[in-house]
Amino acid sequence: MKSSDSSPYSEPGNSVAELILLYQFSNTMLSTIRLNKLTHLILTAITTPSSNLFERAALFMRNEKSDVLQGMLGITRRLEADLQIVGDEDILGSRWDLSDETISRQRATYFSMHVRQTRIDIDDSCALIHQIFSERKPCRSDENICHHCQTCRFIKALCNGAFVAIPLVCHDKTIGMIVVDNPDTGREISNVSMTFLRLFANQAGMAIENSMLYSRIEEAHLNLKDARERLKHGERMAAIGEMAANLVHELKNPLVTIGGFAGRLLKSLPVETQQHHYADTIVSEACRLEKMLADILAFSRKPTICFSACDLKEIIQDCLTNCATTFEDHNIKVSLSDDSCSSIVSGDAHQLKQVFLNLILNACDVMQEGGELLFTLTQKEVAPDKKTIIVCVEDSGGGIQKEIMPQIFNPFFTTKNHGTGLGLAIAHRIIINHFGTIDVHSSANGAVFTVSLPLVA
Ligand SMILES: Nc1ncnc2c1ncn2[C@@H]1O[C@H](COP(=O)(O)OP(=O)(O)OP(=O)(O)O)[C@@H](O)[C@H]1O
Ligand SMILES: [Mg+2]
Repeated sequence: MKSSDSSPYSEPGNSVAELILLYQFSNTMLSTIRLNKLTHLILTAITTPSSNLFERAALFMRNEKSDVLQGMLGITRRLEADLQIVGDEDILGSRWDLSDETISRQRATYFSMHVRQTRIDIDDSCALIHQIFSERKPCRSDENICHHCQTCRFIKALCNGAFVAIPLVCHDKTIGMIVVDNPDTGREISNVSMTFLRLFANQAGMAIENSMLYSRIEEAHLNLKDARERLKHGERMAAIGEMAANLVHELKNPLVTIGGFAGRLLKSLPVETQQHHYADTIVSEACRLEKMLADILAFSRKPTICFSACDLKEIIQDCLTNCATTFEDHNIKVSLSDDSCSSIVSGDAHQLKQVFLNLILNACDVMQEGGELLFTLTQKEVAPDKKTIIVCVEDSGGGIQKEIMPQIFNPFFTTKNHGTGLGLAIAHRIIINHFGTIDVHSSANGAVFTVSLPLVA
């Protein structure tokens, strides 16, 4: 590698030298597909002392979404050469290169940062923008530049004097713009340099577009890889879920037998004996395990819903009747207030009952020492001819801690010693499958679960 300052092709006007320079530019642009390095190479090549074209260059790229020109990079000529020649044996086969350290230094200059902070609206009423974007032609500062629009004023301020703006065109579309000037010497921009820039800009536009396409393909490839990993993970989880469901199914039958025989044993043993106590423990533990297995099975099975018209009020009344002894045991006062005219929803009565039973059991768990459980049914018109029924289940059990609120609907999240953590997860899934919603609010008084379901018209 050697410094490019020793290049003999530094005299614009000498057409062989210019052709070789152009060839070198082209070799350089083909040498990388990394957009960042490519933009640095492009701007350094046209500002390097050896090419002797311009003293400063700024690159702006078009943002298709917001339709603005976004400043990408600004480079000022330095006396020491930044470019290094690679493969200098055969000058036609040689190209330039930049070290990573030079790239970082170039990005950190004041001019580059200033350019990067720049956004220019692509406003066709501005003569410069019109010429660059609609006519796809270069524009000199002494040409028909309008005097009052923001766009021109900005570029003028950026360049402080004479400048040339040239479009970067690819597939008949302006994808960006390079602005060049000579702020150090104030030297006029010659027609030769201008022609050279036009020849160069076409190649640069194509190289940048290719590089951006490559970045997009790379990003899409990464996304695809990510999606494939997630799919694989999902398949693995589904397999584990199926295995767990099979296992649970196999465990359920012997458990029912154990519970049944323990129950018989319990009846045959004299009360208040140690043996009676042992049998009683087996019965209650078998019952708990049976419920747990039933919950896991319900959660792991693919849900099938038999939709039919069912009365939500009746379902709730049913649940309350089922839990009457629990209410009595725990001294819980239950009330139901009903403002809704109709409570007919389309759904699976058995599954909906499971939702309210889970909410009631949770409320009973937090009101062991007594309390109040209030059911409120109201109707809401969400759209003309579209009504929902809202059921609020309010307890006085002291509420849910703020930290655990985001987790309570997660499967297997529980704060109870004997809980499975599936009650709310199952309730949530059932309600979502019924096109409804379930929410929770909590205060120091207690928790309020709100279930809303579409009413049958
Ligand atoms: N009404 C409530 N008041 C206070 N905390 C509640 C209430 N309902 C639910 N929780 C909290 O949410 C957690 C999750 O409830 P969920 O019903 O999903 O599981 P669980 O009751 O712990 O176990 P499972 O219902 O499977 O037997 C509970 O452990 C509890 O901490
Ligand atoms: Mg529960």
